[in-house]
Amino acid sequence: METRILESAVDAANIISGGGLCAFPTETVYGLGVNATDHAAVGRLFIAKGRPSDNPLIVHLGAIEQLESAAAKITTSARMLLEAFAPGPITVVLPKQPSILDAVTGGLPTVGIRIPANPLAQQMLSAAGIPVAAPSANLSGRPSCTTWQSVVDDLGGRIDAVLKGAACSVGIESTVVDCSTEVPIILRPGGVTIEQMRDVVPSVRDLHDERQQAFTGIMPNSPGLRHPHYQPRATVLLADDSWVEKPLVGKTVFVGIGQQAELERTAPGRVADRIIALDSVQAYAMLFYELLRESDRDGYSTIMLQPAPSSGLGASLLDRQRRAAGLETR
Ligand code: TXA
Ligand code: MG
Repeated sequence: METRILESAVDAANIISGGGLCAFPTETVYGLGVNATDHAAVGRLFIAKGRPSDNPLIVHLGAIEQLESAAAKITTSARMLLEAFAPGPITVVLPKQPSILDAVTGGLPTVGIRIPANPLAQQMLSAAGIPVAAPSANLSGRPSCTTWQSVVDDLGGRIDAVLKGAACSVGIESTVVDCSTEVPIILRPGGVTIEQMRDVVPSVRDLHDERQQAFTGIMPNSPGLRHPHYQPRATVLLADDSWVEKPLVGKTVFVGIGQQAELERTAPGRVADRIIALDSVQAYAMLFYELLRESDRDGYSTIMLQPAPSSGLGASLLDRQRRAAGLETR
């Protein structure tokens, strides 16, 4: 199959309405869109990505007014969070409408819904006028794609088209928050931080924290978290205290926040062949997946990552760093 590179959001919408697979930019990462009500197209999507069928897809809509086309019930917390953060990097999980296919939700009675802010995504969704199911546009298990060229590297020849846009500005995925029950709970940290969400709905819980506290109640379900994620070919090490015991094989790159000279003086910097110095957590998140992919392309065998701070956007980036390093398997 030849993968077309598109510049028009309307052309991308036509491919999706016609049952095709078309990748498109969002502010978080590129998504791989299909008509969420087309059974055959959804089936082809899982095959193209090599994605396990129990991992549900997020349904993307153009506007809050279309929520009822996917959600059977809109809880107060969902409405408050969407009013505050949508369009933007947030996904709310709500009871699903019967028209949303079981293949999309992995058999769950709920559906994840997101309204992306990226203008090209907005144009594409409003031209399509249908709910668009879209996982991140990468081969399953690999780092997500934040440039159209990386989408072509991973999925070229396996999908119908890529809508060409700029590099993604947030760089890590949306925050997935389960609003289907009384107290919302964050299943996946992401572009909207837990602190921002608690300013709007103070009762928001964090699944990750509760796991660490060995919470024994009924765990909400986020099937996607069971599968390996975000892993480049190179070995990823977190440059915390434990890196010293690990053998550094082949060419090594170190990624951290700070001045180049300062990172060169610190221990992981000294042993690396290349040092990538970034000036903020935002820049680190924005460039994260592309740095993993670029390190693979340039033949690095070891990627050492300075761990992100554990609050704000840093907490979401740290989650991705730990998964890339194979440290989180749930
Ligand atoms: O930023 C994003 O969210 C990107 C862009 C393209 O929108 N999409 C994305 O999709 O990251 P994906 O498929 O790579 O990750 C979706 C995550 C998975 O962890 C999945 O388990 C969870 O959302 N999810 C989706 N529907 C769910 C549901 N009904 N209940 C619980 N978790 C759900
Ligand atoms: Mg993904």
